[in-house]
Amino acid sequence: MINSQNSKKVTAHKALTDQEVVAQMVNFGLAGYETTTNSLSFTIYLLATHPNVQLKLQQEIDSTFPNEAQPTYDALMQMEYLDMVVTESLRLYPATGRLDRVCKKDVEINGLLIPKGTVVVIPILVLHKDPELWTKPEDFCPERFSGANKNSINPYVYMPFGAGPRNCIGMRFALMNLKLALVKILQNFTFKPCEETQIPMKLSNQAVLQPEKPIVLKAEPR
Ligand code: HEM
Repeated sequence: MINSQNSKKVTAHKALTDQEVVAQMVNFGLAGYETTTNSLSFTIYLLATHPNVQLKLQQEIDSTFPNEAQPTYDALMQMEYLDMVVTESLRLYPATGRLDRVCKKDVEINGLLIPKGTVVVIPILVLHKDPELWTKPEDFCPERFSGANKNSINPYVYMPFGAGPRNCIGMRFALMNLKLALVKILQNFTFKPCEETQIPMKLSNQAVLQPEKPIVLKAEPR
């Protein structure tokens, strides 16, 4: 943003003011912190309650980064099973359960008139768990997103980062961050449920998807 302020090429649009740059930074903090930490907690909960998936992921991590080597960006991005686990976790627990848009002009869809100015809600969580769209939607099954299956998924049915020109601007950063954190944590620990773990987990009804009670797990050093 500062580079764009200093750029001599800013002709088609005005550069951001200092106040706008600060406002964007605050916005990134608000939009990016809790969404990423919650997604990480949900993923680790799913791994603890599906030990076979956790083991398979640790095997992929150990073979990609032998002897707890430092993860590199390129290798991280090529880890297929890690990508499947994160993608499936974001299906079951999309950080924002729903999106909204304001209708810019009168439009008729399947005989239903939506007048200009109407707020339309897109229920991401409901779509992610619709039994007509997913087989056994409540199950945690990373295989749904394997190379062979991934391409058949409708992008307007699976949208943890929203869709269109106003989708999540931090998506690539968030995915990289989540994957890096998972690799570093799972190189060192294996997670298991304990007495305080709520199974099945109940969600609170906040706008940002959160567990009703804090997620408590046992972390065993590897
Ligand atoms: C797992 C982590 C994250 C999830 C699941 C997530 C999800 C979302 C969703 C669903 C939206 C609304 C998109 C739409 O209306 O179509 C959104 C918007 C946004 N996100 Fe994220 N987000 C995450 C992380 C981040 C991070 C790390 C940042 C910044 C560093 C960020 C910055 C933003 C901003 C600025 C918007 C508003 C974009 C706009 O209105 O044009 N998000 N995010």
